[in-house]
Amino acid sequence: MKLATRMQSVQPYFFAKLAKRMVALQAAGRDVIRLDVGSPDQPPAAFIRDALKHAVDQPGTHGYVAAGGLPEFRQAVAAYYSRRFGVAVDPQNQVEALIGSKEGLFHLSMAYLEPGDVALVPDPAYAVYEAAARFAGADVVLLPLRAEHGFLPQLAEIAPDAARRAKLLWLNYPNNPTGACAPLQLFTEAVAFAQRNDLLVCHDAPYLDVTYDGYTAPSILQVPGALEVAVEFNSLSKTYNMAGWRMGMAVGCAAAVRALHALKSNIDSSQFKAAQLAGVAALTGDQTWLAPRNALYQERRDAVLAGLRQAQLPAQTPAGAMYVWAQVRLEWALSSLLMTCWNRPACL
Ligand SMILES: Cc1ncc(COP(=O)(O)O)c(C=O)c1O
Repeated sequence: MKLATRMQSVQPYFFAKLAKRMVALQAAGRDVIRLDVGSPDQPPAAFIRDALKHAVDQPGTHGYVAAGGLPEFRQAVAAYYSRRFGVAVDPQNQVEALIGSKEGLFHLSMAYLEPGDVALVPDPAYAVYEAAARFAGADVVLLPLRAEHGFLPQLAEIAPDAARRAKLLWLNYPNNPTGACAPLQLFTEAVAFAQRNDLLVCHDAPYLDVTYDGYTAPSILQVPGALEVAVEFNSLSKTYNMAGWRMGMAVGCAAAVRALHALKSNIDSSQFKAAQLAGVAALTGDQTWLAPRNALYQERRDAVLAGLRQAQLPAQTPAGAMYVWAQVRLEWALSSLLMTCWNRPACL
């Protein structure tokens, strides 16, 4: 049977295809070191795992949870924003629990975009912003992230027509894949841009607490006025090593939270209650274990950078996120492609 026309705009997720290849290689006995998705290899702290185990044993844990997430979870998110950023959000109207932030990014695009609209998407970027916009039938205008600008988009360079048609502006700092971090000034400019052009700024921020060298990343919600025009997607995946638990949140602009809630209440029935209660423990409990975890990542980052230096591949030192963005020399890339084709002539 013919699929819906909109399916023509969506390709299987790149990393899903890669994962299939890796499973095949592993099945063939190859030792594969994954350098693709940012999936933490360490477990969450013991007290978070204990909270899950305890909750699983309670009889009231196994039914449906109201759409939007447990009130306790939303309150814990609000407490985290108050403690971490000094930002007051209303847990009832400005927080929506997500089944991992990825679905929230996609669904928000579904809620806002339609043919004729524009999504302003950084380039390079996490693939979901563009995929969701295309699925919604909207146009994508790419905002180049260049090394000479610290991998920050130049909002002043956005063409007036694109700004007029834009409904969503995507930002992501600490950034995947460049590792760049943004000063609060970028968020201040983005909020002003959104106010001028009547659009929503979506800050995808799962790496706010994965930072190095003493750097502390800001939230866009710290900017005065941001709560009217910005929504921040945050996640327990990276901050608390809980990627497989699928715990995320959308925080900020009440209209955006309301739209997400209306859409999602028709699609999912929130996250398993025990996972949400463990999420409460993660957000409100002891945070001191994050510093040694970040120190471990920093050591790994430095090992990668040292290797790249040795190979004469220039790379910036990231102060956050889990990625190193290195410059690959064209002749090396070409010779690697030739070697691949040499070994597997079928790919020619
Ligand atoms: C920039 C960015 N946004 C969102 C996500 C998705 O995170 P989650 O596990 O909360 O769905 C990732 C995961 O790698 C990411 O790198």
